[in-house]
Amino acid sequence: MKAVILSGGKATRLRPLTCNTPKIMVPVLNRPFLAHLVDYLKRHQVTELILAMGEVPEQVRAYLGVGGGFGVEIAYSSEQSPLGTAGAVKNTEELLRETFVVFNGDIFTDIDLTGMIEWHRRKGAIATIALTPVDDPTVYGVVETDAKDRVRRFTEKPSRDEVTTNMINAGIYVLEPSILTCIRPGVFTMFERDVFPLLLERGEAIYGFASRDYWIDIGTPESYFKLNEDLLHRHIGAKGLRVERQCSVQPSVRIDGPVLIGEGSCVGDGCVLLGPSILGKGCRIDEGALVQRSLLWDDCTVGDGARVRNCLLSSCCRVGRGSALDGCILGDKVTIGANNELPQGVRIWPGKCIDDHAISFQPWSNQEAAKKQGILDVE
Ligand code: GDD
Ligand code: MG
Repeated sequence: MKAVILSGGKATRLRPLTCNTPKIMVPVLNRPFLAHLVDYLKRHQVTELILAMGEVPEQVRAYLGVGGGFGVEIAYSSEQSPLGTAGAVKNTEELLRETFVVFNGDIFTDIDLTGMIEWHRRKGAIATIALTPVDDPTVYGVVETDAKDRVRRFTEKPSRDEVTTNMINAGIYVLEPSILTCIRPGVFTMFERDVFPLLLERGEAIYGFASRDYWIDIGTPESYFKLNEDLLHRHIGAKGLRVERQCSVQPSVRIDGPVLIGEGSCVGDGCVLLGPSILGKGCRIDEGALVQRSLLWDDCTVGDGARVRNCLLSSCCRVGRGSALDGCILGDKVTIGANNELPQGVRIWPGKCIDDHAISFQPWSNQEAAKKQGILDVE
Protein backbone atom coordinates (compact mmCIF):
# COMPACT_ATOMS: atom_id res chain seq x y z
CA MET A 1 0.00 0.00 0.00
CA LYS A 2 1.02 3.60 -0.61
CA ALA A 3 1.27 6.43 1.91
CA VAL A 4 1.70 10.14 1.31
CA ILE A 5 3.76 11.62 4.14
CA LEU A 6 2.96 15.29 4.59
CA SER A 7 6.04 17.20 5.58
CA GLY A 8 5.88 20.56 3.90
CA GLY A 9 5.02 22.66 6.94
CA LYS A 10 7.33 25.36 8.28
CA ALA A 11 7.83 23.81 11.74
CA THR A 12 7.97 27.27 13.31
CA ARG A 13 7.13 26.02 16.80
CA LEU A 14 10.29 23.89 16.83
CA ARG A 15 12.62 26.71 15.85
CA PRO A 16 15.57 27.14 16.18
CA LEU A 17 15.94 23.32 16.06
CA THR A 18 14.29 23.32 12.65
CA CYS A 19 16.07 26.38 11.16
CA ASN A 20 18.47 24.09 9.27
CA THR A 21 16.91 20.68 9.90
CA PRO A 22 13.50 19.67 8.52
CA LYS A 23 11.04 18.47 11.16
CA ILE A 24 11.08 14.93 9.77
CA MET A 25 14.87 14.78 10.26
CA VAL A 26 15.10 15.86 13.92
CA PRO A 27 16.81 13.07 15.87
CA VAL A 28 14.75 10.82 18.11
CA LEU A 29 16.89 8.37 20.10
CA ASN A 30 19.73 9.44 17.80
CA ARG A 31 17.93 8.47 14.56
CA PRO A 32 16.06 10.84 12.27
CA PHE A 33 12.36 10.97 13.13
CA LEU A 34 11.62 9.81 9.59
CA ALA A 35 13.42 6.51 10.20
CA HIS A 36 10.99 5.72 13.04
CA LEU A 37 8.06 6.61 10.80
CA VAL A 38 9.32 4.41 7.97
CA ASP A 39 9.75 1.50 10.43
CA TYR A 40 6.17 1.93 11.62
CA LEU A 41 4.70 2.06 8.12
CA LYS A 42 6.74 -0.99 7.08
CA ARG A 43 5.41 -2.94 10.05
CA HIS A 44 1.95 -2.31 8.59
CA GLN A 45 2.95 -3.34 5.05
CA VAL A 46 2.84 0.25 3.81
CA THR A 47 6.03 0.27 1.77
CA GLU A 48 5.48 2.69 -1.12
CA LEU A 49 6.00 6.11 0.38
CA ILE A 50 5.55 9.50 -1.23
CA LEU A 51 7.21 12.33 0.63
CA ALA A 52 5.26 15.53 0.01
CA MET A 53 7.47 18.47 0.96
CA GLY A 54 7.81 22.07 -0.15
CA GLU A 55 11.27 21.76 -1.55
CA VAL A 56 12.91 18.41 -0.85
CA PRO A 57 16.04 19.16 1.17
CA GLU A 58 19.26 17.50 0.03
CA GLN A 59 19.63 16.17 3.59
CA VAL A 60 16.48 14.08 3.17
CA ARG A 61 17.38 12.72 -0.28
CA ALA A 62 20.90 11.88 0.92
CA TYR A 63 19.53 9.99 3.91
CA LEU A 64 16.66 8.09 2.30
CA GLY A 65 17.53 7.97 -1.37
CA VAL A 66 14.89 5.87 -3.12
CA GLY A 67 14.38 3.84 0.04
CA GLY A 68 16.29 0.65 -0.85
CA GLY A 69 18.40 0.77 2.32
CA PHE A 70 15.19 0.86 4.35
CA GLY A 71 13.30 -1.85 2.44
CA VAL A 72 10.75 0.62 1.06
CA GLU A 73 10.24 2.61 -2.14
CA ILE A 74 10.40 6.38 -1.83
CA ALA A 75 9.08 8.95 -4.28
CA TYR A 76 9.39 12.69 -3.72
CA SER A 77 6.83 15.34 -4.53
CA SER A 78 7.65 19.02 -4.17
CA GLU A 79 5.52 22.19 -4.18
CA GLN A 80 6.57 25.59 -5.49
CA SER A 81 4.42 27.23 -2.86
CA PRO A 82 2.62 25.40 -0.03
CA LEU A 83 -0.49 23.66 -1.34
CA GLY A 84 -1.94 22.75 2.05
CA THR A 85 -2.42 19.19 3.29
CA ALA A 86 -5.00 18.21 0.64
CA GLY A 87 -3.40 20.22 -2.19
CA ALA A 88 -0.11 18.41 -1.51
CA VAL A 89 -1.84 15.03 -1.86
CA LYS A 90 -3.64 16.16 -5.03
CA ASN A 91 -0.18 17.02 -6.36
CA THR A 92 0.69 13.29 -6.24
CA GLU A 93 -2.59 12.16 -7.83
CA GLU A 94 -1.05 10.26 -10.74
CA LEU A 95 0.59 7.90 -8.23
CA LEU A 96 -2.66 7.19 -6.37
CA ARG A 97 -4.94 4.69 -8.10
CA GLU A 98 -6.03 2.56 -5.13
CA THR A 99 -6.91 3.00 -1.46
CA PHE A 100 -4.02 4.89 0.17
CA VAL A 101 -2.84 6.32 3.47
CA VAL A 102 -2.05 9.94 4.33
CA PHE A 103 0.20 10.53 7.31
CA ASN A 104 1.07 13.83 8.94
CA GLY A 105 4.87 13.78 8.98
CA ASP A 106 5.15 14.76 12.63
CA ILE A 107 3.20 11.94 14.25
CA PHE A 108 4.69 9.09 16.25
CA THR A 109 2.16 6.43 17.15
CA ASP A 110 1.43 2.77 17.85
CA ILE A 111 -2.07 3.02 16.35
CA ASP A 112 -2.97 -0.24 14.60
CA LEU A 113 -2.79 0.96 11.01
CA THR A 114 -3.41 -2.57 9.66
CA GLY A 115 -6.62 -2.76 11.68
CA MET A 116 -7.58 0.73 10.52
CA ILE A 117 -7.19 -0.20 6.84
CA GLU A 118 -9.31 -3.34 7.36
CA TRP A 119 -11.97 -1.31 9.19
CA HIS A 120 -12.02 1.27 6.37
CA ARG A 121 -12.72 -1.52 3.85
CA ARG A 122 -15.33 -3.20 6.04
CA LYS A 123 -17.19 0.08 6.49
CA GLY A 124 -17.03 0.95 2.80
CA ALA A 125 -15.82 4.42 3.75
CA ILE A 126 -14.53 7.07 1.36
CA ALA A 127 -12.32 8.34 4.20
CA THR A 128 -11.35 6.97 7.59
CA ILE A 129 -9.72 9.27 10.13
CA ALA A 130 -7.73 7.92 13.08
CA LEU A 131 -8.90 9.49 16.34
CA THR A 132 -6.98 9.84 19.56
CA PRO A 133 -7.90 11.36 22.95
CA VAL A 134 -5.96 14.44 24.13
CA ASP A 135 -6.09 16.75 27.15
CA ASP A 136 -6.30 19.99 25.17
CA PRO A 137 -8.24 19.56 21.89
CA THR A 138 -8.07 23.29 21.02
CA VAL A 139 -4.70 22.93 19.30
CA TYR A 140 -5.90 20.05 17.08
CA GLY A 141 -8.83 19.14 14.85
CA VAL A 142 -11.80 17.91 16.88
CA VAL A 143 -13.85 15.08 15.35
CA GLU A 144 -17.39 14.27 16.49
CA THR A 145 -18.71 10.81 15.65
CA ASP A 146 -22.09 9.11 16.15
CA ALA A 147 -22.85 5.76 17.79
CA LYS A 148 -21.91 3.99 14.55
CA ASP A 149 -18.53 5.80 14.34
CA ARG A 150 -19.58 7.97 11.41
CA VAL A 151 -18.02 11.41 11.51
CA ARG A 152 -20.65 14.08 12.13
CA ARG A 153 -18.55 17.18 12.54
CA PHE A 154 -14.96 18.28 12.01
CA THR A 155 -13.72 21.45 13.67
CA GLU A 156 -10.11 22.47 13.18
CA LYS A 157 -8.49 24.31 16.13
CA PRO A 158 -11.81 24.90 17.96
CA SER A 159 -12.25 27.55 20.61
CA ARG A 160 -12.84 26.23 24.14
CA ASP A 161 -16.63 26.47 23.84
CA GLU A 162 -16.65 24.61 20.51
CA VAL A 163 -15.00 21.58 22.12
CA THR A 164 -17.56 18.79 22.49
CA THR A 165 -15.20 15.80 22.72
CA ASN A 166 -11.55 15.12 23.52
CA MET A 167 -11.21 12.87 20.46
CA ILE A 168 -9.11 14.60 17.84
CA ASN A 169 -7.86 13.96 14.33
CA ALA A 170 -4.68 11.94 14.81
CA GLY A 171 -3.36 13.07 11.41
CA ILE A 172 -3.67 9.62 9.79
CA TYR A 173 -6.21 8.99 7.04
CA VAL A 174 -7.13 6.03 4.87
CA LEU A 175 -8.62 7.46 1.68
CA GLU A 176 -10.21 6.37 -1.56
CA PRO A 177 -8.72 7.99 -4.69
CA SER A 178 -12.19 9.33 -5.63
CA ILE A 179 -11.74 11.91 -2.86
CA LEU A 180 -9.16 13.67 -5.04
CA THR A 181 -11.85 14.79 -7.49
CA CYS A 182 -13.06 17.42 -5.03
CA ILE A 183 -9.62 19.06 -4.71
CA ARG A 184 -8.59 21.59 -7.35
CA PRO A 185 -5.04 21.13 -8.65
CA GLY A 186 -2.51 23.77 -7.67
CA VAL A 187 -4.85 25.46 -5.21
CA PHE A 188 -4.11 25.69 -1.47
CA THR A 189 -6.55 23.22 0.11
CA MET A 190 -6.66 21.57 3.52
CA PHE A 191 -8.32 18.28 4.39
CA GLU A 192 -9.10 19.66 7.82
CA ARG A 193 -10.81 22.93 6.85
CA ASP A 194 -11.97 22.31 3.28
CA VAL A 195 -12.22 18.68 2.17
CA PHE A 196 -13.64 16.86 5.21
CA PRO A 197 -16.32 19.50 5.97
CA LEU A 198 -17.33 19.48 2.27
CA LEU A 199 -17.62 15.68 2.16
CA LEU A 200 -19.72 15.73 5.35
CA GLU A 201 -22.05 18.29 3.79
CA ARG A 202 -22.47 15.97 0.83
CA GLY A 203 -23.35 13.10 3.16
CA GLU A 204 -20.31 10.99 2.20
CA ALA A 205 -19.27 8.10 4.48
CA ILE A 206 -16.39 9.27 6.64
CA TYR A 207 -15.57 7.07 9.61
CA GLY A 208 -13.55 7.67 12.76
CA PHE A 209 -11.20 4.92 13.92
CA ALA A 210 -10.75 5.58 17.63
CA SER A 211 -7.60 4.33 19.30
CA ARG A 212 -6.08 4.67 22.74
CA ASP A 213 -2.64 3.51 21.60
CA TYR A 214 0.39 5.74 22.07
CA TRP A 215 0.21 8.89 19.94
CA ILE A 216 2.16 12.14 19.92
CA ASP A 217 2.63 15.12 17.56
CA ILE A 218 6.25 16.27 17.87
CA GLY A 219 5.46 19.79 16.72
CA THR A 220 6.53 21.59 19.92
CA PRO A 221 9.77 21.43 21.93
CA GLU A 222 7.86 19.93 24.88
CA SER A 223 6.30 17.13 22.83
CA TYR A 224 9.55 16.50 20.95
CA PHE A 225 11.29 16.04 24.31
CA LYS A 226 8.40 13.91 25.60
CA LEU A 227 8.71 11.48 22.68
CA ASN A 228 12.43 11.03 23.36
CA GLU A 229 11.70 10.54 27.05
CA ASP A 230 8.97 7.96 26.38
CA LEU A 231 11.15 6.02 23.93
CA LEU A 232 14.09 6.05 26.37
CA HIS A 233 11.77 4.45 28.93
CA ARG A 234 10.51 1.98 26.35
CA HIS A 235 13.86 0.90 24.90
CA ILE A 236 16.40 1.53 27.66
CA GLY A 237 14.23 1.32 30.79
CA ALA A 238 13.21 3.90 33.38
CA LYS A 239 16.70 3.95 34.94
CA GLY A 240 18.62 2.45 32.06
CA LEU A 241 21.83 3.40 30.31
CA ARG A 242 22.86 2.67 26.74
CA VAL A 243 26.34 3.52 25.57
CA GLU A 244 26.86 3.23 21.83
CA ARG A 245 30.10 2.17 20.15
CA GLN A 246 33.50 3.78 20.68
CA CYS A 247 32.53 5.96 23.64
CA SER A 248 34.76 6.84 26.53
CA VAL A 249 33.00 7.29 29.86
CA GLN A 250 35.27 7.78 32.88
CA PRO A 251 34.53 5.52 35.89
CA SER A 252 33.95 8.54 38.14
CA VAL A 253 30.97 9.71 36.05
CA ARG A 254 27.64 9.58 37.90
CA ILE A 255 24.75 8.50 35.72
CA ASP A 256 21.13 8.41 36.74
CA GLY A 257 19.16 7.07 33.74
CA PRO A 258 17.54 6.84 31.40
CA VAL A 259 20.54 8.05 29.46
CA LEU A 260 21.68 7.30 25.91
CA ILE A 261 25.26 8.15 24.97
CA GLY A 262 25.79 8.33 21.21
CA GLU A 263 28.60 6.72 19.24
CA GLY A 264 32.07 8.13 19.76
CA SER A 265 31.12 10.43 22.66
CA CYS A 266 33.47 11.17 25.59
CA VAL A 267 32.34 11.92 29.12
CA GLY A 268 35.10 13.23 31.41
CA ASP A 269 35.97 12.74 35.08
CA GLY A 270 33.40 13.71 37.67
CA CYS A 271 30.60 14.51 35.21
CA VAL A 272 26.98 13.99 36.17
CA LEU A 273 24.43 12.80 33.60
CA LEU A 274 20.85 12.83 34.79
CA GLY A 275 18.05 11.36 32.70
CA PRO A 276 16.10 11.51 30.68
CA SER A 277 19.01 12.71 28.59
CA ILE A 278 20.54 11.87 25.23
CA LEU A 279 23.97 12.70 23.86
CA GLY A 280 24.22 12.49 20.07
CA LYS A 281 27.20 11.09 18.19
CA GLY A 282 30.64 12.55 18.89
CA CYS A 283 29.68 14.70 21.90
CA ARG A 284 32.26 15.72 24.47
CA ILE A 285 31.34 16.43 28.07
CA ASP A 286 34.35 17.78 29.92
CA GLU A 287 35.37 17.32 33.55
CA GLY A 288 32.80 18.00 36.23
CA ALA A 289 30.06 19.12 33.82
CA LEU A 290 26.38 18.41 34.39
CA VAL A 291 23.83 17.38 31.77
CA GLN A 292 20.35 17.01 33.15
CA ARG A 293 17.06 16.30 31.34
CA SER A 294 18.49 17.47 28.03
CA LEU A 295 18.88 16.38 24.43
CA LEU A 296 22.17 17.13 22.69
CA TRP A 297 22.43 16.42 18.97
CA ASP A 298 25.65 15.28 17.32
CA ASP A 299 29.07 16.85 17.96
CA CYS A 300 28.15 19.08 20.92
CA THR A 301 30.72 20.08 23.51
CA VAL A 302 30.06 20.99 27.14
CA GLY A 303 33.09 22.52 28.85
CA ASP A 304 34.56 21.88 32.31
CA GLY A 305 32.05 22.41 35.10
CA ALA A 306 29.32 23.73 32.77
CA ARG A 307 25.68 22.97 33.58
CA VAL A 308 23.09 22.13 30.94
CA ARG A 309 19.62 21.54 32.34
CA ASN A 310 16.28 21.07 30.55
CA CYS A 311 17.87 22.08 27.24
CA LEU A 312 17.69 21.13 23.58
CA LEU A 313 20.97 21.65 21.71
CA SER A 314 21.19 21.18 17.93
CA SER A 315 24.34 19.82 16.27
CA CYS A 316 27.80 21.29 16.86
CA CYS A 317 26.90 23.55 19.80
CA ARG A 318 29.60 24.52 22.27
CA VAL A 319 28.90 25.43 25.86
CA GLY A 320 31.97 27.02 27.42
CA ARG A 321 33.62 26.15 30.68
CA GLY A 322 31.58 27.12 33.74
CA SER A 323 28.53 28.32 31.81
CA ALA A 324 24.98 27.50 32.92
CA LEU A 325 21.92 26.96 30.73
CA ASP A 326 18.44 26.07 31.88
CA GLY A 327 15.45 25.48 29.59
CA CYS A 328 17.33 26.88 26.57
CA ILE A 329 16.96 25.82 22.94
CA LEU A 330 20.01 26.31 20.73
CA GLY A 331 20.14 26.16 16.94
CA ASP A 332 23.10 24.43 15.36
CA LYS A 333 26.67 25.77 15.66
CA VAL A 334 25.87 28.07 18.58
CA THR A 335 28.86 28.90 20.75
CA ILE A 336 28.42 30.02 24.32
CA GLY A 337 31.70 31.29 25.73
CA ALA A 338 32.97 30.49 29.21
CA ASN A 339 31.24 31.60 32.40
CA ASN A 340 27.94 32.77 31.00
CA GLU A 341 24.66 32.26 32.76
CA LEU A 342 21.85 32.48 30.23
CA PRO A 343 18.37 33.62 31.17
CA GLN A 344 16.03 30.69 31.55
CA GLY A 345 14.19 29.52 28.43
CA VAL A 346 16.01 31.54 25.76
CA ARG A 347 16.21 30.33 22.18
CA ILE A 348 19.41 31.10 20.33
CA TRP A 349 19.52 31.11 16.56
CA PRO A 350 22.04 29.00 14.57
CA GLY A 351 25.61 30.19 14.37
CA LYS A 352 25.37 32.85 17.11
CA CYS A 353 28.38 33.29 19.36
CA ILE A 354 28.35 34.63 22.89
CA ASP A 355 31.71 35.77 24.22
CA ASP A 356 33.26 34.63 27.49
CA HIS A 357 31.68 36.36 30.51
CA ALA A 358 29.19 38.19 28.26
CA ILE A 359 25.97 37.36 30.07
CA SER A 360 25.28 36.64 33.67
CA PHE A 361 22.20 36.75 35.78
CA GLN A 362 23.61 39.76 37.60
CA PRO A 363 23.33 42.46 36.55
CA TRP A 364 20.12 42.09 34.52
CA SER A 365 21.25 44.87 32.20
CA ASN A 366 23.79 42.50 30.63
CA GLN A 367 20.95 40.38 29.35
CA GLU A 368 19.10 43.41 28.09
CA ALA A 369 22.23 44.51 26.24
CA ALA A 370 22.59 41.06 24.75
CA LYS A 371 18.99 41.08 23.59
CA LYS A 372 19.48 44.47 21.96
CA GLN A 373 22.51 43.19 20.09
CA GLY A 374 20.29 40.41 18.77
CA ILE A 375 22.37 37.72 20.42
CA LEU A 376 19.46 36.41 22.41
CA ASP A 377 15.97 35.71 21.19
CA VAL A 378 13.70 35.27 24.11
CA GLU A 379 10.54 33.32 23.36
N1 GDD B 1 3.40 19.02 1.68
C1 GDD B 1 2.80 19.84 2.56
N2 GDD B 1 2.32 21.03 2.12
N3 GDD B 1 2.72 19.47 3.85
C2 GDD B 1 2.13 20.31 4.72
C3 GDD B 1 1.60 21.56 4.34
C4 GDD B 1 1.70 21.93 2.95
O1 GDD B 1 1.28 23.00 2.51
N4 GDD B 1 1.09 22.16 5.44
C5 GDD B 1 1.30 21.32 6.47
N5 GDD B 1 1.94 20.20 6.05
C6 GDD B 1 2.34 19.04 6.86
C7 GDD B 1 3.21 19.41 8.05
O2 GDD B 1 4.59 19.33 7.71
C8 GDD B 1 2.83 18.35 9.08
O3 GDD B 1 3.62 17.17 8.96
C9 GDD B 1 1.39 18.01 8.73
O4 GDD B 1 1.17 18.49 7.39
C10 GDD B 1 0.40 18.68 9.67
O5 GDD B 1 0.70 20.05 9.75
P1 GDD B 1 0.92 20.77 11.17
O6 GDD B 1 1.29 22.16 10.87
O7 GDD B 1 1.80 19.96 12.04
O8 GDD B 1 -0.58 20.78 11.69
P2 GDD B 1 -1.12 20.67 13.18
O9 GDD B 1 -0.30 19.73 13.97
O10 GDD B 1 -1.32 22.04 13.71
O11 GDD B 1 -2.60 20.04 12.92
C11 GDD B 1 -2.75 18.87 12.14
O12 GDD B 1 -2.37 17.72 12.86
C12 GDD B 1 -3.16 17.49 14.05
C13 GDD B 1 -2.63 16.19 14.68
O13 GDD B 1 -1.33 16.37 15.07
C14 GDD B 1 -4.22 18.78 11.70
O14 GDD B 1 -4.32 17.70 10.80
C15 GDD B 1 -5.12 18.56 12.93
O15 GDD B 1 -6.45 18.34 12.52
C16 GDD B 1 -4.63 17.33 13.71
O16 GDD B 1 -5.43 17.16 14.90
MG1 MG C 1 1.54 18.81 13.79
